[in-house]
Amino acid sequence: MTRIALVTGANQGIGYALVEELAARLAPSDLVLLTGRNPERVKAAADRAARGARSHVEARVLDVTDTEAIAALATSLGRTDIVISNAIAPLVPDRPQAAQADEFIAVSNGATHAVLRSFAPTLPPGGRLLVVASGLGTLGFLDPRLHPLFDTAALEEVEAAVETWRQAVHDGTAPRKGWPAWLNVPSKVAQVAAVRAVAATRRDQDLANGTLIAAVCPGLVDTRASRPWFDDFGEARTPAQAAGPVVDVVLNPLDPAMYGELIQFGKVLPWHNGKPLDRPVS
Ligand SMILES: NC(=O)c1ccc[n+]([C@@H]2O[C@H](COP(=O)([O-])OP(=O)(O)OC[C@H]3O[C@@H](n4cnc5c(N)ncnc54)[C@H](OP(=O)(O)O)[C@@H]3O)[C@@H](O)[C@H]2O)c1
Repeated sequence: MTRIALVTGANQGIGYALVEELAARLAPSDLVLLTGRNPERVKAAADRAARGARSHVEARVLDVTDTEAIAALATSLGRTDIVISNAIAPLVPDRPQAAQADEFIAVSNGATHAVLRSFAPTLPPGGRLLVVASGLGTLGFLDPRLHPLFDTAALEEVEAAVETWRQAVHDGTAPRKGWPAWLNVPSKVAQVAAVRAVAATRRDQDLANGTLIAAVCPGLVDTRASRPWFDDFGEARTPAQAAGPVVDVVLNPLDPAMYGELIQFGKVLPWHNGKPLDRPVS
């Protein structure tokens, strides 16, 4: 039977590499949907990925800040075997974080919530829904005062915590309340918390039928998203190198230890890992 795979934010960076890797390793009858917000960039990327691919590759415009469009696409596809929620908005250190927060949070967090809500119910037995998060997405990277907002939270509680954080960024109280200055940190913790929340509601049924919902970290990869934040890319992977281990998680038999967890290079990163760090941002 034809399998359908979908990757968000896939016209460049890791998302594009995930499409290429999926299209190289899925069957000729399978379909990989390369999605992104800009029609020209999405079509050009899909044309490029389709060249030499084993599976079919098609372009679909999907701006992930449009949660209704996410729901409509999930409904129109009916069944999606592999979903990778990957998009991230540009974020730079030298512009006020508050000025970038709304778009950044909508793309990373609003979309993660919408993808989990809309696509998880459409996964067939053996399906995969992965959210590309980060090693910074473990609870220990937050001030301990914030842990109760995310630890064992339901999806609605994660959404409320994200909104509390967004408002604190705008009203200037975020530093006093312990929120890290670098928006990427709370955003990634919230993504992993959202995955954990949804996974907790479906764990037994999913494990029984080989379905996986999890978060993944690709490691440090040289892309538009990482370039403004790191000086040393000596140890960084290329997007193509980063895509391999993520697609292994998609295609390997389900390891129950990975269910609902954050996975990096085939290993689970414990939820309580990490310690607060801060980055110079304006
Ligand atoms: N790079 C790293 O070192 C690293 C490390 C850990 C985790 N990650 C995670 O990996 C994922 C991919 O990051 P990346 O480094 O590949 O970033 P990237 O190169 O900046 O690519 C981001 C992609 O998201 C798309 N996007 C932005 N806004 C969108 C929207 N509203 N709707 C749909 N697509 C949208 C972008 O499209 P446009 O081209 O139209 O802007 C682009 O295709 C992110 O979740 C990131 O946090 C990356």
